[in-house]
Amino acid sequence: MDRELEVVTVTLNPAIDQTISIPNFKIGEVNRVSFFQSDAGGKGINVAAALADYGIKAAVTGFLACENDQIFHQLFSQKNIVNKFVSIEGSTRVGLKIFDPEIEQTTDINFPGQAATPQDLAALEQTLESLAPASGWFVLSGSIPASMPPIIYRGMIKKLKQAGHKVLLDTSGVPLQAALPAGPNIIKPNVEELSDFFGRKIESDQEIIEASNQLMREYDIRTVAVSMGKNGAIFLEGSECVRAIPGEVELKSSVGAGDAMVAGIVAGKVGGLSLPETARLATAFSMGAISRLGSGLPSKEVLEDLKRLVTVQDMTA
Ligand SMILES: Nc1ncnc2c1ncn2[C@@H]1O[C@H](COP(=O)(O)OP(=O)(O)OP(=O)(O)O)[C@@H](O)[C@H]1O
Ligand SMILES: [Mg+2]
Repeated sequence: MDRELEVVTVTLNPAIDQTISIPNFKIGEVNRVSFFQSDAGGKGINVAAALADYGIKAAVTGFLACENDQIFHQLFSQKNIVNKFVSIEGSTRVGLKIFDPEIEQTTDINFPGQAATPQDLAALEQTLESLAPASGWFVLSGSIPASMPPIIYRGMIKKLKQAGHKVLLDTSGVPLQAALPAGPNIIKPNVEELSDFFGRKIESDQEIIEASNQLMREYDIRTVAVSMGKNGAIFLEGSECVRAIPGEVELKSSVGAGDAMVAGIVAGKVGGLSLPETARLATAFSMGAISRLGSGLPSKEVLEDLKRLVTVQDMTA
């Protein structure tokens, strides 16, 4: 029998990440590609890929355009991820990264994506109603397509919570501002997103802790994790506060570090871990993600080694 579904992730705006390497890339001339790779991207999809590699049964949903969805289906079947995407017309947006290894410079070319219709949104709402992961966790990740109202996360969180589920929200800008009043259980802004939210520079530990406490007080948020790139992350829950500092790893790609950290936080919750244990696991997930290309995690053994490299400091006042 198929294993029971444990976590659902939602990606409204997936993307195909195409990396091509062209030494001495020149505009207006014939250029030869020395290496290329395509990856199925999108924040919720990255979260599900990391959860699946850790052994947690995940489903993915959101909007996926049908004309170039093969690469996504390959990833889902390879990792045993349950596909609950609403299939929409057209093509998923492609992000082309032209890397010139001679000068280590990247040129980005972003194709437009497909707009979902109000009928597509209704279909997604129905899908969400039909899903009941055993742990209760839903992860809402990433931007909202320009064609959709930036407030839609708020309604989704409200409905999911009313149905007795729990929500981790990882987004920024207006969608974050609009969604917080619905009270996601967990948020994971990075320090720039937190600053952006408050409209002022938030830098020091003290400023991060005060801003996070304010969010937990004002909204019905139980856990806040503020990530700071290579400087690690500060995790707060109730009156508890810890800082997790990653160990040294060889950086292959910093893309998806935040998504892996989100997956680690959910994995900690699913496993009933304490806040310090969750901080250690989530930081090991993020280190695993930056030490490889593409989505997903290294083996369990490597992950155990990475966990030992994380320093967790108690910062509870
Ligand atoms: N250069 C690095 N070296 C070591 N660890 C890193 C590095 N960059 C990120 N991390 C780890 O990944 C975590 C999340 O990174 P970051 O704060 O960059 O997330 P983010 O900005 O949300 O990223 P994303 O672009 O994936 O959304 C950090 O808290 C840290 O543990
Ligand atoms: Mg992020």
